Amino acid sequence: MFVRNAWYVAAWEREIGEGLVPLMLLGEPVVLFRQPDGAVVALEDACPHRKLPLSMGRRVGAEVECGYHGMRFDGRGACTWAPGSRVPPASAQVRSYPLVARYGMLWVWMGDPAAADPTKIFEVAHWGDPAWGLNQGDSMEVACHYLYITDNLLDPSHVAWVHRGSFAGGACEDTPLQVTPAADGVTVWRWMQDVEPAPFYAPFLKFTGRCDRKQQYEVRFPSHAAIRAIFTPAGTGGEGRPLHPQAFIMDSYNLMTPIDEHRTRYFWFQMRNFAPGDEEVSRRFDASVRAAFEEDRVILEAVHRGIARERTPHLNLPIDAGPLRFRRRVAEMIEAEHAD
Ligand code: FES
Ligand SMILES: [Fe+2]
Repeated sequence: MFVRNAWYVAAWEREIGEGLVPLMLLGEPVVLFRQPDGAVVALEDACPHRKLPLSMGRRVGAEVECGYHGMRFDGRGACTWAPGSRVPPASAQVRSYPLVARYGMLWVWMGDPAAADPTKIFEVAHWGDPAWGLNQGDSMEVACHYLYITDNLLDPSHVAWVHRGSFAGGACEDTPLQVTPAADGVTVWRWMQDVEPAPFYAPFLKFTGRCDRKQQYEVRFPSHAAIRAIFTPAGTGGEGRPLHPQAFIMDSYNLMTPIDEHRTRYFWFQMRNFAPGDEEVSRRFDASVRAAFEEDRVILEAVHRGIARERTPHLNLPIDAGPLRFRRRVAEMIEAEHAD
């Protein structure tokens, strides 16, 4: 049960070479392959004849050839050749999925193709801005339902416990969170005044001493998050105030794609307002971020297993307001798709 009429990240563009790439997306087998002109296409990974995964065949020019009896399909899923018939049967068609390359990623639309509007792809502020640096990012598979990850991303309070040695810093525990709902998602945020910079960020700040820190976790339906971290000299931060020239800003993009009900592929990259083009800075962030996300992964996989075997109802706390609101809206979106 997933929202289907939405763009999801299928893969990094850099992952698609010459061959056929099988993926499981929202519980459906999909095969990606690159056409000779460079465009990547996505087809259902099942031959209509005996349902052999097409990814077990081979790519021939702009087509894929089934590895069992050689049926061939073009990038739109139309059959161009079938054994024993000069004209392929009209029903010999494989489902194709709209696919768009953006931000170094391939975005797939698993729902009604007529509704696939590329302008609805998650927007990345400052993409291509020469004043901003890019931490190239990575991905990992997490053995949990993706909504445990959106729960986690709408829950800055976990930082103090799960990321004790990295993102956490003074006052993480006791500054109350604000929840701001919007038509396209939920944002949870807070300003923490006059605190020590978190150890993860401290080496990159352009100022020394204490800071004002903003955590802003914006998660858009159904599964994409933009997390903004701001560090500014103590006394200069606060909602509605202009940003101090020495302010550190890091936008983390967290893009979740359900593999199925029990597994999620988690993609991420970051944009930073300093050291553009400095590969060493990118490498340091990439390594630290992966380490921190590993800390989340261990927790989230255990939570998925824990809730699957719960015998007594689990408890909700005030910190769950954002995640619960998000889940309610996702459930409504799924219901609306089924009603159509
Ligand atoms: S199973 Fe694909 S051609 Fe027969
Ligand atoms: Fe985390």
